[in-house]
Amino acid sequence: MKKFPDGFLWGAATASYQVEGGIENNDWAKAAREGKVHAAGLATDHYNRFEEDLDIAQSLNFTSYRFSIEWSRIEPEEGKFDETELAHYQKVVDACHARGITPFVTLWHFTLPEWFSESGGFRRSDAPEVFARYAKKVAGALNNVTFFTTMNEPMVWISEGNIKGKWPPFKKNPFALYFGLPYKLKTAHIRAYEEIKKECPDANVGLTKHIIAFEGRGLFGSLLARMSNYVWNARFLSAISKHTDFIGVNYYFHAIFWGKYASNKKSDLGWDLSPEGFYLALREAGKWDKPVYVTEHGLADKEDINRAWYIRESLASVHKAIETGVDVRGYSHWSLLDNFEWAEGFPPRFGLINIDYENNQTRTVRESAKNYATICKDNAL
Ligand code: BGC
Repeated sequence: MKKFPDGFLWGAATASYQVEGGIENNDWAKAAREGKVHAAGLATDHYNRFEEDLDIAQSLNFTSYRFSIEWSRIEPEEGKFDETELAHYQKVVDACHARGITPFVTLWHFTLPEWFSESGGFRRSDAPEVFARYAKKVAGALNNVTFFTTMNEPMVWISEGNIKGKWPPFKKNPFALYFGLPYKLKTAHIRAYEEIKKECPDANVGLTKHIIAFEGRGLFGSLLARMSNYVWNARFLSAISKHTDFIGVNYYFHAIFWGKYASNKKSDLGWDLSPEGFYLALREAGKWDKPVYVTEHGLADKEDINRAWYIRESLASVHKAIETGVDVRGYSHWSLLDNFEWAEGFPPRFGLINIDYENNQTRTVRESAKNYATICKDNAL
């Protein structure tokens, strides 16, 4: 039996725009009105049904829940904050605690208030201060939050929205990963970190980083892997490493120059499923000598064919990382619920819980979730 450390946090994650429903005031909703992306509409109606969803999370033995605050709800106009919406998220936090679940609060998960994106978004010269003001407001308003992550996957946001032009703000700048935005996001994280720590000195404040496991074979392959690792993973982490209490790891991809994956299984989106790469991703995160929390890991698998296998094998990699010295303290599966998968819309099914969109967003727990629940209960594989 592979035991996990005492107090290891087990759970699942969501993000506001992907599940809440009824959000019309951000850059994605605007892009949907313009026909550039799918509309999220009511999504899973999690905004109204969070108690029901947390009941299910509790029944699955979860001890943590990662969710995000929708910035456009909190600050619908620049500098004007909505106390009713802050109170809503306090209710979500309280509902977690009432069920023995530790909330992990993400402040920015890809969507931006319309006013912010229209006025330049993170290209604005004062963007770090604007973000820090919002972070300060949320941290000052919410009680009993011990884990904040400032932002979700800055490099993915730059890549999808500013290099490939598939997401708002639909820019196509091949150099966006190298100049400008990474510096702005790094500064925004650091300023938010400082403000949150002033409001909540005891809270753990971190960042959620999409870590690709790069592996190289042969001289050229190794060189390419090292360079890619620097550009995608290490550069940003090293820039914020003095201003983070933990590193949140989102693991989805393993890039091998050149070689085959141990398994030939793929997700419904055609993504290679490589549990082995998870170990490498965690080793990378461990280089900064900070506690590591897996803040996302999962797959699109509508028929629930590979999910139980993928979770189990991946957790074996997490266990191996812990045994070799990486201080991993929690695992959050992506996702608690089927949800709005950005440019792909609703078809990809990442949820431990199936949503029947045609039938009043009815929730059904997938079989793989029950397997995962046993692992959570045993704190062991
Ligand atoms: C993002 C999620 C997304 C998931 C699956 C992660 O990169 O944080 O919002 O749904 O991947 O694509």
